[in-house]
Amino acid sequence: MLYSVLKFLHVAGVVLLIGNVTITAFWKVYSDRSNDPRIVANAQRAVIAADWLFTFPAITLIIVGGYGMALIANMDLFADPWLVWGQVLFLISGALWLGVLVPVQIRQARAARIFEPDAPIPESYWRDGRRWLVWGIAATVPLVAATYVMIAK
Ligand code: HEM
Repeated sequence: MLYSVLKFLHVAGVVLLIGNVTITAFWKVYSDRSNDPRIVANAQRAVIAADWLFTFPAITLIIVGGYGMALIANMDLFADPWLVWGQVLFLISGALWLGVLVPVQIRQARAARIFEPDAPIPESYWRDGRRWLVWGIAATVPLVAATYVMIAK
């Protein structure tokens, strides 16, 4: 029973995390294409809010559910390849997110705070936007791969 609850929390976290990162990227790009400083700045604020509301709880669910299951089932975390790869892929994605995406997001949020409503958006903001999208996709691929590895075992 407890194992099933933990598995549910783990999979709910996966759905929340992959759902959030893909849809956030979609509407961020969609809003950026408006070229309107107010819309672009609003979307930028929402990216940060979505991290607090969805990304952090999702990561917590994945960790609590995953390690909780491993603990009560007495699994060796470094024996089965699917479990090792799940953790490695999660770490790769987390490193890209913390090391590249979060700093870019903070830079963009600071820049968006001082946008003039009728002035063009600085080129450095768009450069960071492209970087955020490319590295965001790069950080999502390991999560999709981890989902496959965990299901296929
Ligand atoms: C952080 C380290 C992780 C640990 C310790 C972990 C651990 C586990 C464990 C013990 C199971 C249960 C397997 C079973 O009952 O047969 C499981 C299932 C699952 N995990 Fe993970 N996991 C981790 C990361 C991830 C990540 C990053 C993803 C995807 C983004 C993921 C996706 C899944 C899925 C979809 C299942 C259900 C598989 C099935 O029942 O067929 N896990 N995980």
